[in-house]
Amino acid sequence: MLRNLLSLLLLIVVCNGGLAQLRSSVNWKARWIEAANADAAMRAAQCFQKNFETGKKIKSATLYITSRGLYEAHINGMRVGDAYLTPGWTSYRKRLQYQQYDVTTMLKKGGNTIDVTIGDGWYRGHIGFDGQKNYYGDKTALLCQLEIIYSNNERTVIISDGSWKAAQTPVLSSDLYNGETIDARVHLQNWTSVKEAAYGFDNLIPTENEPIRKHETFKPVKILTTPKGEKVIDFGQNLSGWVIVKASGHAGSTITIQHAEVLDKEGNFYTANLRSAKATATYILAGEGEETFEPHFTFYGFRYIKVEGYPGELKPENFTAVALYSDMEPTGTFECSNSLLNQLQHNIQWGQRGNFLDVPTDCPQRDERLGWTGDAQAFFRTAAYNFNVNDFFRKWMKDVEADQLANGVITSVVPDVLNGFGGSSGWADVATIIPWQQYEIYGDAATLAAQYSMMKKWVDYIQLQSKNDLWQSGFHFGDWLSYRPGNDDGTEAVTDKFLIAQCFWAHSTQNLINAAKVLGKADDVRSYEAMLSRIKAAFMKEYVTPNGRLMSNTQTAYVLALHFDMLPEDRRAVAAGFLADNIKLYRNHLTTGFLGTPYLCHVLSRFGYNDVAYTLLVQETFPSWLYPVKMGATTIWERWDGIKPDGSFQTPVMNSFNHYAYGAIGDWMYRNIAGIQSLEPGYKKIRIQPLPGGGLTWAKGSYKCGYGTIVSEWHIQNNKLTLTVEIPAGTNAEVYVPTADGKLLEKKDVGPGRYTFGE
Ligand code: BGC
Repeated sequence: MLRNLLSLLLLIVVCNGGLAQLRSSVNWKARWIEAANADAAMRAAQCFQKNFETGKKIKSATLYITSRGLYEAHINGMRVGDAYLTPGWTSYRKRLQYQQYDVTTMLKKGGNTIDVTIGDGWYRGHIGFDGQKNYYGDKTALLCQLEIIYSNNERTVIISDGSWKAAQTPVLSSDLYNGETIDARVHLQNWTSVKEAAYGFDNLIPTENEPIRKHETFKPVKILTTPKGEKVIDFGQNLSGWVIVKASGHAGSTITIQHAEVLDKEGNFYTANLRSAKATATYILAGEGEETFEPHFTFYGFRYIKVEGYPGELKPENFTAVALYSDMEPTGTFECSNSLLNQLQHNIQWGQRGNFLDVPTDCPQRDERLGWTGDAQAFFRTAAYNFNVNDFFRKWMKDVEADQLANGVITSVVPDVLNGFGGSSGWADVATIIPWQQYEIYGDAATLAAQYSMMKKWVDYIQLQSKNDLWQSGFHFGDWLSYRPGNDDGTEAVTDKFLIAQCFWAHSTQNLINAAKVLGKADDVRSYEAMLSRIKAAFMKEYVTPNGRLMSNTQTAYVLALHFDMLPEDRRAVAAGFLADNIKLYRNHLTTGFLGTPYLCHVLSRFGYNDVAYTLLVQETFPSWLYPVKMGATTIWERWDGIKPDGSFQTPVMNSFNHYAYGAIGDWMYRNIAGIQSLEPGYKKIRIQPLPGGGLTWAKGSYKCGYGTIVSEWHIQNNKLTLTVEIPAGTNAEVYVPTADGKLLEKKDVGPGRYTFGE
C-alpha cells in the first residue's frame, strides 16, 4: 500500500514537472570545494583531505558524495565502494548524480582520515571530436557529507568545507580519450588550502542506475614482437577497461602502454582509427620493489597493448586486462548449431559491455564515445534481451529529456556536448522509440508517463517542420553507413533522407499514440491518429509509384515502409516482393545502414520471406553480419567492411571495431530463432514462436523477465522438430510449435511449467 502510494506520488511529481524528477533527498550542509590554487591549466588530479575524530562507538556511517570531475574516495586508506568513473555521466548542468555509501565498518574510534581524489573525466577532460575540453567547467570540485550515528543515537556530520586541505596526487594527468599518467614517486605533501565554491545543489539527484564495476578479466593470449619491432600483448578480446600492470624497476623508469583494437595487415600495432585519442597509460616507477599500476579516471577500448619501457621481460602474469561496464544484470542467452552465429552473439554482447559505461555510447576507443541517440534506439531491443537495462535507460532517457531543446528538438548525442545539435530523423526519434519499447519490455506505466511530454514535444516539433504533411526539411543523417562500394556500377544503396524522415515521423507518432492509449489520453489518441493517416497518405503520394515501387528502390526504403506500416494492407505484399528481389540483386547480401538494419530480418519474416532472412543472417561474405566474424572480430564493427577482404582497413576517420549498432540483429535472433517474445507489457503474456531455418539443427534461448526465466529450445532430428519451453510462474504463453521445415504444426496455450512439443 505504502509502495503504491509512493509510486503514485512519484508519478505526480514526474508528470507535473515535465523535466522534474525526484531531487536530492539529502539535507546538504556540505559546501562545494576546490583547490585554492586551482586553475584551468592545472591538470593533475587533486586530493582533498580531512582528518577528524570520532569519540564514541559508531552505529552507522553514510557517505554522500559527488564531484565535478570523477572521484575516488578513501577512508583510512580503504577505497570507498567498488564503483568506477563515479559520479557517472549525466547532463551535469541539469542533473548531477551523487552516490551514497555505507562506510560504517571503515571508520574507527579516534582519528580518521577521508581522502577524495578527483580527475577530469567527462566534466572537464576532452569530450566531443573537435578537441574540445572543459565542456562543463574548467575546475574540478568536490561535495561530500559523512553522516555518523553513534550507538547512543547522537549524530555528527563531517562535511566538505573550507577546513579541508588539498594536494597534488601521483595522477599527473587523466583524460578519457588520452589516458592517464601516474608518477608513483609523487607523495601527498605540500598541502594547500581549499576554497568553497558557489555551486548550488539544485542539479543534484540520487544515483539512478547500476554503477560501473569491474567484470571479466583477461590474461595475455599472445605476447609478440611485430614486424616493426613493437612489443605487443594480445588479450584475445576487444573490451573496454584497462590493464593492471605489475613491475619492478628503478625509480623514474617509465612504462608506456598504448591501446589498440587491431593489428594491421602486416601485423603491426594500429591506432590510426583512434583519431586524436592517445589512449596511453604512462606509469613512472617509485623503485620500491614490485609495484602495481592501474588507472582511475579513464578507460580504453582495446584488445592489444603496445608496451614500451617495461623493466625486464614481458611475462603474462604481470598483465591483466579487466573489463569495466555498468553492472547490469545479465538476462539473456542464445546459442545454436552454427558456431559463427554463436560468435556473432558473443560479439553483440561484448559490443554492449564495451559501450554501456553509464551511457550508451557509439564506441569506446576513439575521440568520440558519445551517447549517439540513433545508435541507442537501433540497439535498444537487443540490449534489453542481453541485460536488464531498465534502470540504465530510465536514467539516460531522463538526460534525453533534460537536453531536449525548448522547441522539442532531441539532440544527436546525450548528454549533449555538441551544443544542441540535433533533430535528425532516426536519431531524435529515440524520444518515442525507447520509451515505448521499454514499456513493452518492462511494463512500467509510471516510466512511460514520465516520458510522455518529451515524446509529444518531439512529435509536435516534426509537425511544425512539415508542409502538406511531408517532412522535407532539416538535417538528417539518413541510413548511416549503408552499402556504398565507391565505384561507378550504380549499386550504391542510398535511400532518400526525406523518405526516411517521413517513415520515422509516422513511427514516432504511432509510438506516441500507443503511449497515449496506455495512459488514457483519449484526446491525444484521436488527434494523433488523424495526423498519422495524413502522414501515411502523404507518403503514398510522394514516395510510392502506382505499381507499388518506392521512390528509393533500396532495402532500407522497403524495410522502413513495411515495418512502420506506411503502406495500406493491399500494397504490402508487392513491396515485400520488391524487397526480396532487391536482396537477390545483391546476390543475397544486405545493403542497409544503421536505420534499415534493425528491422530487415523482421520484415522478411513477417511477410513470408523467413528463408531470405536466414540467408542474409548466415551470409559470410561482405556485406553481412558474419563477414566480420570470419575476419576474426570479437565485437561488432561500425562498418560492414572495417577490415576489407585483402586485410586493408576502411578509412581511419570512422572505423571503430566496437560499435553496437549492427548488433541489432540480436533482437531477431532471440525473437525468431529462439522465438521468445513479449505479448503483453512486461512479459505478463508470452509468445513462443521459433522459426527454424538457415540449416540450423538446434537453437536455445533464455530470457529472464520480471517473473522468472523463459526458455525455448528446439532440436531437429530425422527431419522432426522437438520444442521444449519453460514458462515462469505468474505468466502464460501462446506456443506456436513449428515443423522442421518451418510450417505451423500446432498452437498451444500454456501456463507456467516446462513442456515438450513436437512432430
Ligand atoms: C558515430 C555514430 C553516430 C554518427 C552520426 C558517428 O561519428 O560514431 O555511431 O550515430 O556519427 O551519424
